[in-house]
Amino acid sequence: MTDTVIAPTTGLVQERRLVTDLPGPRSQELSARRAAAVSAGGSSMLPVYITAAGGGVLVDVDGNSLIDLGAGIAVVSVGNAAPRVVEQVREQVANFTHTCFMITPYEGYVAVCEALNRLTPGRHEKRSALFNSGAEAVENAVKVARAATGRTSIVAFDHAYHGRTNLTMALTAKSMPYKHSFGPFASDVYRAPMSYPFRDGLTGPEAAAQAISIIDKQVGGSETAAVIIEPIQGEGGFIVPAPGFLPALLDWCTDNGVVFIADEIQTGFARTGAMFACEHEGVVPDLVTTAKGIAGGLPLAGLTGRADLIDSVHPGGLGGTYGGNPVACAAGLGAIATIEELGLVDRAGQLGTILLDRLRAMASRHPVIGDVRGRGAMVAIEFVWPGTTEPAADVCAAVARAAHAAGVVILTCGTYGNVIRLLPPLVIPLDLLHEGLDILDEAIGAVTA
Ligand SMILES: Cc1ncc(COP(=O)(O)O)c(C=O)c1O
Repeated sequence: MTDTVIAPTTGLVQERRLVTDLPGPRSQELSARRAAAVSAGGSSMLPVYITAAGGGVLVDVDGNSLIDLGAGIAVVSVGNAAPRVVEQVREQVANFTHTCFMITPYEGYVAVCEALNRLTPGRHEKRSALFNSGAEAVENAVKVARAATGRTSIVAFDHAYHGRTNLTMALTAKSMPYKHSFGPFASDVYRAPMSYPFRDGLTGPEAAAQAISIIDKQVGGSETAAVIIEPIQGEGGFIVPAPGFLPALLDWCTDNGVVFIADEIQTGFARTGAMFACEHEGVVPDLVTTAKGIAGGLPLAGLTGRADLIDSVHPGGLGGTYGGNPVACAAGLGAIATIEELGLVDRAGQLGTILLDRLRAMASRHPVIGDVRGRGAMVAIEFVWPGTTEPAADVCAAVARAAHAAGVVILTCGTYGNVIRLLPPLVIPLDLLHEGLDILDEAIGAVTA
């Protein structure tokens, strides 16, 4: 496939280059300083300290250049320091940095909301509100759903990840490391089974019937304010629900006056080969939460949805000091323009074809790969002991370590810790992507030899 996108970079050479072992000596010095100053509760997967990044590479303090297949967890989809983002941030930061939108507003906030209303699924009348983080957007989606319905119960799913604040910890499924020792959690949150085709073997409608039956019996449609779901689960293992699961859930929500919240924080903004992952199944959610890929790395998050729901909240009910900060909004507008100008939705689809082809070829040679799944530039492999569905978390960790040592930044995830996920910047040069995949392939071979 020819490389149609010229990676807009900060001028960094697009190559993998190792001049020291990883982490190198300067990174190790910084790690020592960090140990004495920084909370031990915040760990780093690969403690190499970065000084520059762009296109498909991260450059560290020792001069190593690493291939980036994680995009800072699906954040720098437009590339690190993407030119339009840098330009618009520079201009904004020189004009003013903060007024607080709740005190004296500014155009950038309005323009980002207009873009969100235009880009999210559905042509109905919409409103948006802006926040600082994904978790905050989710919290506010729940506030809106409760205010609009007068109900309190919220349903989330097995393997879900929605954040680390108190309410979003309650919505998140996995205990260690996200929830362990941090309870008690917010009440009136219930959990339903997720469609997980590799493990449940159910069709989408069958899995939806199972989930709906549990919600009906354990919560009740008339008690439920909202169902919140990631259209492809992120931290839980890149689980793509079987076709028909999401539409059946949406139908049940509509029939019962329940707000359907799509958490598109990881899947949104071109990542899956559609602007939003719900589009793959024609699902039009009542509310959509966004963050990560929205602003090229600056902290910005959005809640977008039906005007009647969002406008049901009393004036002053939604807000925060920094939400929709003008510099973050400028970055958001730069990132959205980049996605549209470079055709990054299509680009994500092209990357997906390469990734799935290459990973399926690996699966045919490495029986430890039990499943290859994903959409667009959001794909994963799940490691199992050959011939079983028994999670092989140790193999997964060893493969990730080997790839890291060779200078390829790949991330792991999954309830069972046995999934490697690939989320490259959408502007990564194709030869670099292939090189990263070659190294992953070699790492699996070496670990399982
Ligand atoms: C689907 C989803 N929801 C919510 C969040 C929380 O976002 P943040 O870390 O910005 O609070 C994440 C972060 O990984 C996510 O993937």
